[in-house]
Amino acid sequence: MSDAKRLAGEKAIEYVRDGMIVGVGTGSTVAYFIDALATIKHRIRGAVSSSEQSSGLLRAHGIEVLELNDAGPLSLYVDGADECDPHKRLIKGGGAALTREKIIAEASEQFVCIVDPAKQVDVLGRFPLPVEVIPMARSLVARRIVSITGGQPVWRQDVDERGVVTDNGNAILDIHGLSIVDPVAMEAALNQIPGVVSVGLFARRGADVVIVGGSPPRVL
Ligand code: A5P
Repeated sequence: MSDAKRLAGEKAIEYVRDGMIVGVGTGSTVAYFIDALATIKHRIRGAVSSSEQSSGLLRAHGIEVLELNDAGPLSLYVDGADECDPHKRLIKGGGAALTREKIIAEASEQFVCIVDPAKQVDVLGRFPLPVEVIPMARSLVARRIVSITGGQPVWRQDVDERGVVTDNGNAILDIHGLSIVDPVAMEAALNQIPGVVSVGLFARRGADVVIVGGSPPRVL
């Protein structure tokens, strides 16, 4: 598995052009991409990062981390996913970084998604769908999720059984028991609930390219 992730991360370097500010996602697959990016760091202007975790890795490699507000539109965003369907629509947010990931994906001309083969599914939903919520709206949003989707929202806990707090100070609900036949409609419906910050469905703006790690990697 980690070999597949490494091979996907390394392949994504082919999309980096000289002088770019690179959008960088979050997760174990992206960590391999960051390692590879470090080998060509003299060729890029820096990175915009989707999480404190990735910012730490980038800085440790001597890659400058820029604010999106200063960087402007990005040419390239590289990130992993928790699930990927044949239309390059994704579930993301297993690492709780979905909101910043969605912002950077939106700001980027090309979204290259790097996955291991286990992430590929025909229908999204086996992986519990993460939703970032404003803390005071957590119970309200959970009730609305049940009526809209029929799924079971679960308040994500950390190892100490405390509610996970995102980099933005919010909570995460993971929706179990879904089979998402119309991801664009579900993304839109969940986005309408007051208190929802963002939904881990990347359907309206999915990936442009998916790299599935292997020997050799497959580019979809
Ligand atoms: C982070 O919130 C997620 O969207 C990650 O991109 C996703 O969990 C991929 O993780 P791995 O690369 O660690 O499998």
